Amino acid sequence: MTTPSTIDRNLAMDLVRVTESAAIAATRHMGQGDKELVDQTAVDAMRLTLGAMAMDGVVVIGEGEKDEAPMLYNGEEIGDGSGPAVDIAVDPIDGTTLLSKGLPGAIAVIAVAARGAMNCPREVFYMNKIAVGKEARDAIDINAPVETNLQNIAAAKGKEVSELTVIVLDRPRHAQLLQDIRNAGARIKLITDGDVVAGLQAAMPGSGVDVLMGIGGTPEGVIVAAALQCIGGAIQCQAWPRDDKERDAAVAAGADLSKVYATDDLVAGEDVFFAATGASTGDLLRGVNFFSGGAQTHSLAMRSRSGTLRWVETTHDFARRDI
Ligand code: FBP
Repeated sequence: MTTPSTIDRNLAMDLVRVTESAAIAATRHMGQGDKELVDQTAVDAMRLTLGAMAMDGVVVIGEGEKDEAPMLYNGEEIGDGSGPAVDIAVDPIDGTTLLSKGLPGAIAVIAVAARGAMNCPREVFYMNKIAVGKEARDAIDINAPVETNLQNIAAAKGKEVSELTVIVLDRPRHAQLLQDIRNAGARIKLITDGDVVAGLQAAMPGSGVDVLMGIGGTPEGVIVAAALQCIGGAIQCQAWPRDDKERDAAVAAGADLSKVYATDDLVAGEDVFFAATGASTGDLLRGVNFFSGGAQTHSLAMRSRSGTLRWVETTHDFARRDI
């Protein structure tokens, strides 16, 4: 890994234009039942706007490998080559199924950090995750029992365990996890998709969510780590191979399946940038709202060095659009 260098410009402001363009384009296909189309449209829009950015970017975390969706592929060089050397983690739409069904909570999302800063067990498509906000950042241990984690998080936040809300993807693989959370006495918010937003909610004061737990996509884990470097908070992840074949292939490729990836392992350095735009309205961001000749978008732009978190509302005039 190279040492991440200093980036003196807030790339998050440029990245908002990238996520806005992806959200606007993909949302045109909302509810049409075609998640591939949603993804491809977002990828195409992102590739155009990213290509115009003043940076020497390489996609290190692309989306799509696990289900062969269209993607900004790993190793793709992007940007006009003139600016800082950066790593890019991208999920053109997190929640493609949500958007294809017209359900709430789909976002366009991207994270950028200095070259060499991003790292994850690429050979494995899923990771087990636990993520919390600033107050509980030192209270988590992915290898500890669920009950211990919840007790420590509650203590760190000055709450009872029964006052904690744990956000979990609604999947059969989480049956034991849900049982453990219930036995510990915490509350649960199940979601059908979208554990990037879930990770952000776990770290955002006032979101009504205290912790994200469970198994989700590997790219999404890296993107959440980037966001938490900006908001404050912590995530721990561990590779979760789906079966023996995936496990054996990952081990043969050199993956360390026992390694716990902490926030700094996933995204290192002080120059981390994050942007997300709502596609369909959800708990965090409002979706794209079209009007005659234009649209309104709602986005979040963050930078780790300054800790700035900007909520961006944009009105787009399609006759004069620059994205
Ligand atoms: P996509 O938008 O790529 O479909 O991802 C949605 C998502 O819910 C992610 O947020 C999550 O990490 C992952 O899928 C979980 O995977 P699976 O649906 O296979 O359990």
